[in-house]
Amino acid sequence: MSWACGELARGGVEEAAREARRLLALAVGEGPAAWSPSATLSRYFLGRLRRLVEARKRGMPFALLAGWTGFLDFELKVWPGVFIPRPETEELAELACGLLRELPPRPRVLDLGTGTGALACALARARSDAQVVAVDCDPRALACARWNVRNLGLDERIRLQRSHWFSSLEGEFQLIVSNPPYVAREGLARLPREVREFEPRRALDGGPQGLEAAKSILAQAPRFLSSGGWLLLEIAPGQAEALVTFAKGGVGLVETRVEKDMAGKERFFLGRCK
Ligand SMILES: C[S@@+](CC[C@H](N)C(=O)[O-])C[C@H]1O[C@@H](n2cnc3c(N)ncnc32)[C@H](O)[C@@H]1O
Repeated sequence: MSWACGELARGGVEEAAREARRLLALAVGEGPAAWSPSATLSRYFLGRLRRLVEARKRGMPFALLAGWTGFLDFELKVWPGVFIPRPETEELAELACGLLRELPPRPRVLDLGTGTGALACALARARSDAQVVAVDCDPRALACARWNVRNLGLDERIRLQRSHWFSSLEGEFQLIVSNPPYVAREGLARLPREVREFEPRRALDGGPQGLEAAKSILAQAPRFLSSGGWLLLEIAPGQAEALVTFAKGGVGLVETRVEKDMAGKERFFLGRCK
């Protein structure tokens, strides 16, 4: 433990002691509680721990080492090339599920840029009569989402489809959710190494001001929303004003509002179709 902790700290990994404990649990294949500090690791497990510590020092995110991450009350498979769901998006999912529960029977719901399928799965689990469509432009993301949808037994309820935002979609939805790429391009180089080097740029790069994807979705969403239908977007702090102004500029959304996340940052844009 002290070797792993020292190595991680020297490698610039934050909260090195906690990370060392998590990696040890991963190496021995048990929860941390199952490991006693007085136990001796066999050479096999020590080898596994060494490889995990080296990979973590190179910046590989813990979720990619584990191959799994938690989202709300379920687990999602993650693999390289796919965006790892964040805690803020769990809050977006909760907001969306709240709106979903109020909708009439058999609501049609759309998740744009589904990644691992996190939001689509959360929505399908929240309401058994919801018909969920989830799209992504990246085949690696769609393959991962397909794995998760199947693993959670939701393949009858979630339709996965390759699409550049709305390009291959038809019909109307009562609820559209998205966590689009929203990092301003010049900020990409300042992201932590584990994000910059291990997560897909396509999932992060929101164009010059970070607003390109959100504006594109905002501009097209009203054509795909039923009357009174909701659009929910995750945004970066500081983007709310520009998006509300854009939406009020006649894209066809009314009742626009912005909600803060648990850290008190403006994080979610909500708009309702006329
Ligand atoms: C920030 S990630 C969000 C993933 C997932 N929804 C989540 O919250 O964990 C953005 C996703 O949008 C996808 N994406 C980026 N540009 C897209 C486009 N033009 N059309 C469809 N999906 C796109 C990326 O491949 C990525 O999976």
